[in-house]
Amino acid sequence: MSASANNVADTPLDVAAIKADFPLLSRQVNGQQIVYLDSAATSQKPRQVLNALNSYYEEINANVHRGAYQIAEQATSATEEARAHLQRFINAPSDNEIVFTKNATEAINLVAYSWGRTNLNEGDSVLITALEHHANIVPWQQLATERGVEIRWLPITDDGCLDMVDLEQMLDGVSLFAFSAASNVLGTLTPVRHLADAAHAAGALCLVDASQAVPHLLTDVTEWDCDFMAFTGHKMCGPTGIGVLWGRAELLDAMPPFLGGGEMILNVTREGFIPNELPWKFEAGTPPIAEIIGLGSAVSYLESIGMDAVRAHEVALTDYALCTLKERHGDDLIIHGPAATGDRGGVLSICYRDVHPHDLSQVLDQRGICVRAGHHCAKPLMKVLGVGATARASLYIYNDKTDVDLLSDALAEAGEFFSHQPA
Ligand code: ALA
Repeated sequence: MSASANNVADTPLDVAAIKADFPLLSRQVNGQQIVYLDSAATSQKPRQVLNALNSYYEEINANVHRGAYQIAEQATSATEEARAHLQRFINAPSDNEIVFTKNATEAINLVAYSWGRTNLNEGDSVLITALEHHANIVPWQQLATERGVEIRWLPITDDGCLDMVDLEQMLDGVSLFAFSAASNVLGTLTPVRHLADAAHAAGALCLVDASQAVPHLLTDVTEWDCDFMAFTGHKMCGPTGIGVLWGRAELLDAMPPFLGGGEMILNVTREGFIPNELPWKFEAGTPPIAEIIGLGSAVSYLESIGMDAVRAHEVALTDYALCTLKERHGDDLIIHGPAATGDRGGVLSICYRDVHPHDLSQVLDQRGICVRAGHHCAKPLMKVLGVGATARASLYIYNDKTDVDLLSDALAEAGEFFSHQPA
């Protein structure tokens, strides 16, 4: 092990014990023990969450907010308890501000459709950043096409941080500043409170896409002082098909419903309808009950580890990865994004020699290593970086130094393999 690697602070987590909670991590792929390094795309699920999903279906499966019989009441209580749990987890003032959606994409679309189409017209502007995922670009582009709303882009610096030199000027006249708390490509952590303060000083609201932050950091919407926040369950040990929109109650109250149907009404007549109270006004139809309960269980799981420990582990492991990968591979390897671990999460977007990221990913797959290759749903950012694609390794609570070392060995093997291929 290198000197720099020996200097890496130790993780506070018992990673072996955590790994044992995740059944999928014990399987083999291509005859190799799986090394899962794609948690920015979706995290694996611990047995505790799988058990919660199973228990719901085996013991209390019934529709919510409708039946007056015991299991229906139990299903309703479990759903609303999960909502209150989510409220405490992000330190929201009230559980009626927690709106369950399908994912973060739907949460952002909800704001764009409901708040955006109520408040934005030709001549209004939305500021986004060069770091954004398509989920925080396209809904605003749709609004721009429909309403003539201007979209402005806050640039990034060469090391992948937000370039805030002209922030005040760019916010001038803006109605909404929509930005991510953590980049899914570069790992960049953005200064959320500073950006929220700047937005408010300019008279704008702010929306935080926290999909890559909530699973990894202590998240506090009160401390962040943002207005809307979107995140998704499946990247934080929860099931797919469940996301959250948090919004200030006074904003959500003033917004029209997004989708119409059952659950979101207080009354319906031939003449019209009266919308339900928050948060059900935004939850039309039967909700994803099992997934909501599963997400509550995922929150319990993360809390049992402690979000400070989750972050400390990620900092230590990212530091180890940045040091050892650069030390071993030198100029053969580019890792995009901030160099300082304090400015980033454990997302490592890699270019290795001139090996195409898809080829690299296939060679890594032969070693059982799962990374994502492609544009990561952030094509405008890839253009700024001057690449069409990267191979992205992303770290989480169940990864350890051995996983990073296996990645490093496999990169060397891939380099060797492709150096013998005809040009
Ligand atoms: N947004 C997810 C990712 O970055 C799917 O991979």
